[in-house]
Amino acid sequence: MKLQRILFGVIASALVLSVVACGDDDDAEEPTDETEAYFDMAADYESWETLGDGDLMASGDHGGDFVRTYANASAMDTISDEDYPFAAGALLVKEQYSSEDDDSPSVLSIMGKESDDDGDWYWMQADTDWEVHGGVQGSDVGMCVDCHAAAAGTDQVFVEAYGIDMGNGNNGNGE
Ligand code: HEC
Repeated sequence: MKLQRILFGVIASALVLSVVACGDDDDAEEPTDETEAYFDMAADYESWETLGDGDLMASGDHGGDFVRTYANASAMDTISDEDYPFAAGALLVKEQYSSEDDDSPSVLSIMGKESDDDGDWYWMQADTDWEVHGGVQGSDVGMCVDCHAAAAGTDQVFVEAYGIDMGNGNNGNGE
């Protein structure tokens, strides 16, 4: 009697464990090699410089989120020198928070420069545990490309959104 109950307990917990073990990767899209390489490069993005003052700002377009954008050293060089296009290896990571009071972002939007050519970006979104978010990864992600085309003058990066002085009195107002 007693033995049966113990056996039942053991089998039941083994079942629970196996369900928990497979439960966490659902249908998460596998990252491509390229995505993985960019995610590795971006892993320490919080140590990079931010565009603007680093405070959360209301996003112009990214789903009403609050955002903060980090740029790696290569991207930062291009922005401070105002010498567009960005060079291969430039990387921009935008944290998106659903609310201003959240402690951590809900999603990261990322652009990695594939070559020195104007507009040649690889687009990605990641969850904070670096899983591909919403299947967004690739050099031709229509929804990202179409909107970012509006920033064609600065290689598709909305530099002016951060109040960055473009020099020569040009603040992004076309003056
Ligand atoms: C409807 C327009 C729109 C769409 C669609 C869009 N973006 Fe953006 N994105 C912006 C704007 C505007 C900014 C400037 C900061 C802000 O206001 O959020 C921005 C900023 C960024 C930044 C920081 C660098 C910069 O240009 O300021 C990254 C990285 C980024 N977006 C990635 C993506 C990715 C990846 C996608 C596709 C999943 C995407 N964006 C789709 C409008 C858009």
